[in-house]
Amino acid sequence: MSIIFNEQAKTFTLQTAHTSYQMKIGNLDYLLHLYYGPSICDADLNYQIMQYDRGFSGNPYESRDARTFSLDAQPQEFSTQQQGDFRTTSIEVVNADGSYSFNGKVSRFTIREGKYQLDTLPCTFAKEDERADTLEIVLTDQISSVEVILLYSVFEKADMITRAVKVVNKGTASIQLKKIMSVCLDFLNGLDMDLVSLPGRYGQERQVERQKMTHHIHTIGSVRGSSSHQQNPFVVLCGREATEDYGKCYGFSLVYSGNFLAEAELDQYDQLRLVMGINPKQFVYEIKPGEQFEGPEVVMAFTEHGFTGLTHLYHDFYRTNLCRSKFVSEVQRPVLINSWEAAFMDFDDVKLVEIAKAAKNMGVDMLVMDDGWFGKRDDDNSGLGDWVVNEEKIKGGLHKLVEQINNLGMKFGIWFEPEMVSEDSDLYRAHPEWAMQIPGRHAVRSRNQMALDMSRKEVQDYLIQSVNAILDDANIYYVKWDINRSLADIWSNVLSADKQGEVYHRYILGLYRVMNEIILTHPDILFEGCSGGGGRYDPGMLHYYPQYWVSDNNNPIDRLKLHYGTSFVYPISTMGAHISDSGRFVPLRTKAVVAMCGTFGYELDASKLSEEEQEICREQSDLFRKYYPIIFGGDYYRLSNPFEVGNMTAWQHVTKDKAESLLSVVVTNLTCNGPQEYVKAKGLIPDAMYRINNGEQVLSGAALMYAGLPIDREVPEYSSFQFYLKQI
Ligand code: GLA
Repeated sequence: MSIIFNEQAKTFTLQTAHTSYQMKIGNLDYLLHLYYGPSICDADLNYQIMQYDRGFSGNPYESRDARTFSLDAQPQEFSTQQQGDFRTTSIEVVNADGSYSFNGKVSRFTIREGKYQLDTLPCTFAKEDERADTLEIVLTDQISSVEVILLYSVFEKADMITRAVKVVNKGTASIQLKKIMSVCLDFLNGLDMDLVSLPGRYGQERQVERQKMTHHIHTIGSVRGSSSHQQNPFVVLCGREATEDYGKCYGFSLVYSGNFLAEAELDQYDQLRLVMGINPKQFVYEIKPGEQFEGPEVVMAFTEHGFTGLTHLYHDFYRTNLCRSKFVSEVQRPVLINSWEAAFMDFDDVKLVEIAKAAKNMGVDMLVMDDGWFGKRDDDNSGLGDWVVNEEKIKGGLHKLVEQINNLGMKFGIWFEPEMVSEDSDLYRAHPEWAMQIPGRHAVRSRNQMALDMSRKEVQDYLIQSVNAILDDANIYYVKWDINRSLADIWSNVLSADKQGEVYHRYILGLYRVMNEIILTHPDILFEGCSGGGGRYDPGMLHYYPQYWVSDNNNPIDRLKLHYGTSFVYPISTMGAHISDSGRFVPLRTKAVVAMCGTFGYELDASKLSEEEQEICREQSDLFRKYYPIIFGGDYYRLSNPFEVGNMTAWQHVTKDKAESLLSVVVTNLTCNGPQEYVKAKGLIPDAMYRINNGEQVLSGAALMYAGLPIDREVPEYSSFQFYLKQI
């Protein structure tokens, strides 16, 4: 059992292969956090906690003369509200009597085999042959009868711990929940810690930022109704010394697609508190007597092997324990061509078949018909919501078009943006009340569109029915599910005035229900998520889609940074990457090398490519298929940081048995008469011999890793190199 309760010491120790996590039922039954880090087995770390008389830090009443016991100074596992702990709270609740108070103490706990599941939210699961154990600790406030259930699952082999939280109203009148954090982790010393996050913007998602902890609350979050382009629900707390390969790193990844918040607070005594959960902004949730509220899951990992160590833990776990799609491992993903940058909304069936024919010659397996096929949709002013084929463009209907594509020996995919509505649409004319709009005010427009109120059951039902009707009408192999605006005008016509604070979260619950009904009932369809590029790229979405569009920015040189940042937590197999016309001066082969750090596809008018270009593409599609097992199943190494000044960016995929590897290099800057540069491999077996690119040259893993490979200097701009290493 990976969860140990020590009766005498009253400690809970969660044990994974290389880490321990310890808490203790401490003074007055408060739950204290003792430790998270390298394995210590179940050593009782209670001695770590010192008690002093701290001025201006209150003492619980029951501790009587013990002026030395204060929740303000002790490490908490789930911080209370108004009990003398002035650091950021894990919960803010307005009790039935109007008081703002939660004094949670351990009232009971259970330990059981298996992974917990959540009723309303996506979360990770244990594989069939995998053991996971669960600990449930109940914190009860005796006065308000509010209970908080802390859930922990331990994946011993995978080295991962997941947490989630539930708030239960055991009282006789409603309470209002205003903040609930899924994780609270107190470190006894945080002065030497840095916070790493993935901020960005449209076209430049998940850039990497590292900040030093100072004495205030550092907040990372989104209030855009989705996890957003601007921040990502993933943070790392790492030692100041941590680098790509060395040093301690704690990862926190929230399985949620809506507004989120992570707070890292360095307190007066240099202790560090990290909380993460749903963003409390405009969040007030009523919990009626007998009801409960579920907070999303946080997936935690610790390593002493720097950012690479953390990446490997998350990649392995998210590849196998998050998404149930058969495209995760059973079925190889097709090489696709998407119509967006080829034709935008200006296409018809003839044009699509023309693109498909040329693409077939490039080794492409599937044509994806992007935005513009439905309702009245020639630009972004109209049509969203009317999920009916526009037969003026697609003459003879969808069925006929799909048949034509299938007859070419290709699969067919289609684009949807289900959560949105155009004012100029039949749907809006029939149901203006389904769009989010605050009564008496004009709605904020964004890309000329409005968001549907996904919290409404009839909206959800309409989407399930209309999207399914298309999916069931033709032989559709793939769906791209897009959302192209942030939410504003948060209002639902079916909720009373006092429940409008629930809309942000209810939107996400509604979305998850729709996705469950459509995606999980179409297990043979490959789904790709998208939000104006990579704006809602989070584990909540990856529970449903095995892949996600990284960014609308297809410039291969920008993509080096986009892939670098995204790869911190999200597996390469989830990263949607295409070759397009963007990046005019970058050779086609280099574009392909970059797109192979992802799902690989095309987004251009194939019919306009020359014979020679089509030939290069065919070669590259074949290479991708050849390297697929290494790229999708292997360990990923970032060999250089494209955010630093340098002349090349390099990365590497290594199979689990280390017998094969693909090392890719893009020259980003040519300096005249510059020094010779070498790229050093990682993750190989030092004393094994590797043949390079099936040629004559054979080098040891040690030579490849410690001496490196020289990169040719006399090359055109933006040249690239791929080294396929095979153990002999
Ligand atoms: C978003 C997506 C693009 C494309 C357009 C269509 O911007 O990111 O790939 O699908 O929408 O409108």
